[in-house]
Amino acid sequence: MNSHTNWCNKMSEKKVDVEVTQDDIDNAMGNSQKQAQMTEMEQIELMMKGIKHKIIVCSGKGGVGKTTVAVNLAIALAIKGLRVGILDVDITGPNVPKMLNLEGERPTVIPGTNTFTPVSGPMLSSGGPIQVMSMAFLLETPDTPVIWRGPLKMKAIRQFIAEGNWGELDYLILDLPPGTSDETLDAMQLVGDNSGVVIVTTPQEVATMDARKTINMSKAMKLKVVGIIENMSGLTVKCPKCDEEIKIDLFGSGGGEKAAKDLEVPFLGKVPIEHKIMQQGDKGVPFLISNPDSVSTVAFDEIVKKIRASME
Ligand SMILES: Nc1ncnc2c1ncn2[C@@H]1O[C@H](COP(=O)(O)OP(=O)(O)OP(=O)(O)O)[C@@H](O)[C@H]1O
Ligand SMILES: [Mg+2]
Repeated sequence: MNSHTNWCNKMSEKKVDVEVTQDDIDNAMGNSQKQAQMTEMEQIELMMKGIKHKIIVCSGKGGVGKTTVAVNLAIALAIKGLRVGILDVDITGPNVPKMLNLEGERPTVIPGTNTFTPVSGPMLSSGGPIQVMSMAFLLETPDTPVIWRGPLKMKAIRQFIAEGNWGELDYLILDLPPGTSDETLDAMQLVGDNSGVVIVTTPQEVATMDARKTINMSKAMKLKVVGIIENMSGLTVKCPKCDEEIKIDLFGSGGGEKAAKDLEVPFLGKVPIEHKIMQQGDKGVPFLISNPDSVSTVAFDEIVKKIRASME
């Protein structure tokens, strides 16, 4: 039995004791006629209504660890028993399903509506499942490229946001592609209220320089900047001769912290480079689950506490 079936069974066991009006039914089921008359923005507002907080994870540069952060943030929140969804806004490089071991899954279209139910992700002992939507679920194979220009990519993002039936969530995490162009702009504009931006950077100047642009873009769009995470911040290795731990600042250190100070935004913390983070990311097991006692997990826990304190 897969996690989706598990989840469906669980839901059907739940007894609901609330008064439901016709309006509620229309809203929940997405009455197709009503939806046809709605503007796209009205529908986005309707679909986002049940989501308490939205966290936009972005960066100026590619490959700095956004998806790794987004996925582990979702896990950390779900472990606390919160209801979490993750929307992969990276249309041409969607990596969330891979990092959650959900490749090959498909979202379900809700009959009679133009809405869909996201894929049910990992079920944790204390919560879940995490709900997931990604372009990767719509591709024939993991190697199928999405060769789309900006307007088509933006259309897909709008559809994911307007037609995704997320239900009631405490957090929706948005994993963005790098940079400040089309998709970032569109996602930032569409999710609107109750959202905050988390910027991921590596320590070196060439990355923080681009992170600064993302922070200034968020500020220009009047979005709350939750803070900066410095990822891949130092590598700790054991000396093979004396077993002493040596920290190597492979990409330098403190660049994220300095950018936070200069731009007067909170610094959320540093996550070191750990071989297991990369390894487990490839296997689809987020490091918070696979390495509960690692240095990165401890660092990440502190970061999550700060994010929650800022959002809730
Ligand atoms: N702290 C870390 N230690 C070791 N490996 C890491 C760490 N953070 C991320 N990685 C690895 O680095 C690679 C890039 O990470 P990830 O895909 O999360 O970056 P990204 O910013 O989302 O990339 P893109 O811009 O392409 O979307 C992945 O293989 C990931 O497992
Ligand atoms: Mg990514």
